Amino acid sequence: MSAQHLQNHPEWSTRLAFILASAGSAVGLGNIWKFPYIMGENGGGAFVLIYLACLLIVATPILISEVMLGRRARSNPISGMAKLSREAGVNPGWQLIGWMGVLTGFLILSYYSVVMGWALSYVEKAADGAFVGADAETVKGLFDDLVSNPGTLLFWHTVAMLMTVVVVARGVRGGLELATRVMMPLLIVILVLLVGYNIGTSGFSTAMDFMFVPDFSKVTGETFLVALGHAFFTLSLGMGAIMVYGSYMPRGTSIVRAGLWIIVLDTAIALLAGMVIFPIVFSNGLSPQEGPGLIFQTLPLALGAMDWGYWLAIVLFVLVSIAAWTSAISLVEPAVSFLWERFGVRRLYSAIGVGVATWTLGVFSALSFNLIADAKLFDKNFFGLMEFLTANILLPAGGMMIAIFATWRMRRADSAEELGLSGVAYRLWWLPAAVIAPAGVALVFLNGLGLFG
Ligand code: TRP
Repeated sequence: MSAQHLQNHPEWSTRLAFILASAGSAVGLGNIWKFPYIMGENGGGAFVLIYLACLLIVATPILISEVMLGRRARSNPISGMAKLSREAGVNPGWQLIGWMGVLTGFLILSYYSVVMGWALSYVEKAADGAFVGADAETVKGLFDDLVSNPGTLLFWHTVAMLMTVVVVARGVRGGLELATRVMMPLLIVILVLLVGYNIGTSGFSTAMDFMFVPDFSKVTGETFLVALGHAFFTLSLGMGAIMVYGSYMPRGTSIVRAGLWIIVLDTAIALLAGMVIFPIVFSNGLSPQEGPGLIFQTLPLALGAMDWGYWLAIVLFVLVSIAAWTSAISLVEPAVSFLWERFGVRRLYSAIGVGVATWTLGVFSALSFNLIADAKLFDKNFFGLMEFLTANILLPAGGMMIAIFATWRMRRADSAEELGLSGVAYRLWWLPAAVIAPAGVALVFLNGLGLFG
């Protein structure tokens, strides 16, 4: 039975498809919604700098490792890690990476779907013309109305989850490649357009200073933790999503080159999003520390004041929704491919099962903006707690284990073969993945616990 399943392990139709799908997974709410809001909360420039350092030093070698493990195993992350452990002759307990990934994906999707719901509801608001000529107060009111209404939130959370389940049920290729191929270039064009519009506004230079002139006085242990966590989150790294996508990657495609493309695209879109949001913040005397509502309280303001703003707003929120959508499906893919390859559960049923479970957990995130807003732990509501636990703890921990397995457990001949690297090029991956990245994660964890004062 398993042999038959292996033959059924799908493959992308073209080499570009892996890059498109992985970039589709990477580019999402993390870039457009989360990056600006955590940058705002963590003081701007210094955060950006630390984040870029985390991307380069920690996330890049781990991303290459995760794709490599996936393609070598040609299987879902749980069975795949079992297989790779056997190949390397090490403890099968490394499967834990796969199990943790399935759990993390489930936890992330539960709140991701709620925020995707916000984006969807903003498509409706844009189409209603709610932003045209709106002032800061009106725009803020629109967002507050949305999150204070449990019924509306749950409705859009449900729509988002249904959209996700439908695509996952249809399989890897159905629509995903097309969605990404159209969305990504269009998103970049619109963001560039909005940055262009911003250049003329009063807050532009303040915004550039805020983003690119580091002020280290605001940096704490938590800043490093959030920046590191976000480097993982934005690249969909550390939970097996990129491993599964890598497992569908044809042999003979360069893992390193593909990985670098994904990182460049993802980072460009995040920085562009920041350059769109912060000029609006400073031109209108708003606070960068608005938290999760930041983009929803700023974008409509600029769009509402522009000629063509009515149409641009619709297109932009449609694009944000699509970006969220192509990311959401990758959060379920490890679980669904596992259920199919291990137990032969059809995609339709596993997608529905995972969808229902995730939706249920997501209800608590939706309600943590209204009915259960006062239930707090470590000064965070349920939504904030989920975000913190997944992005800042589980993903870096998963990534660290991936890097350690790929370098210290796998045979070097195997990793070299799979990466298509030898000599200096191989060592340029190995050393950062084996030593620098795991040490970086460990340091940031210890620092986050306040160990360095
Ligand atoms: N990277 C996506 C974003 O930035 C979110 C995401 C999709 C993700 N799949 C993931 C995050 C897997 C972590 C792990 O919006």
